[in-house]
Amino acid sequence: MRFTIAIDGPAAAGKGTISKAVAAHYGFAHLDTGLLYRAVGRKTLDGTQAVAAAEALTPEDLEASDLRTPQVAQAASKVAAIPEVRAALTDFQRAFARRSGGAVLDGRDIGTVICPSAEAKLFVTASAEVRAERRFKELMAGGHDTGFETVLKDVKERDARDMNRADAPLKPAEDAVLIDTSSLGIDEAIAAAIAAIDARRTA
Ligand code: C5P
Repeated sequence: MRFTIAIDGPAAAGKGTISKAVAAHYGFAHLDTGLLYRAVGRKTLDGTQAVAAAEALTPEDLEASDLRTPQVAQAASKVAAIPEVRAALTDFQRAFARRSGGAVLDGRDIGTVICPSAEAKLFVTASAEVRAERRFKELMAGGHDTGFETVLKDVKERDARDMNRADAPLKPAEDAVLIDTSSLGIDEAIAAAIAAIDARRTA
């Protein structure tokens, strides 16, 4: 059985939480594609050239412990604007999407570029303020010392870079179901996602 679920949206909209829950619900494999860009971005912080880093990426690179920091997130969104970096990561994502047993991929361009024929597509979003508040709490809980305004600025900068790049900009696929999580709790957001996917599975 092959069934691809594409979940796109801006930073900290709840994609990761929803994707993990959806994958567990259907028993599908899950790929957080942001980790690929974060791993490449992290290598550039050590001085490696971005395209070379993307071409040489290994599964171990995705295990690095500091991929979730704001510095790596910014570096990721910079390397993500380079077409050769995106190209180097495409085959791996497409192969993952078509593995037997079903797959959930979350990112920015899954429904538009990586898997345009995914069986189900969601676009998960929320206001910048709500997203920054969530990310701020996550970072503080993880022991990062930061301020809400800094996180909000970071989120807005990353949104602008992701939406305005020429190659694979962040935008909903025409056939994506939009889920705004601004005023939804985690369980409600997950239920909305599963309802939207079930509608595609039985269609
Ligand atoms: O999802 P996450 O915040 O981990 O992604 C980090 C960065 O990687 C994003 O800001 C975006 O620039 C880039 N990215 C992308 N395409 C994807 C996933 C992530 O351009 N499919």
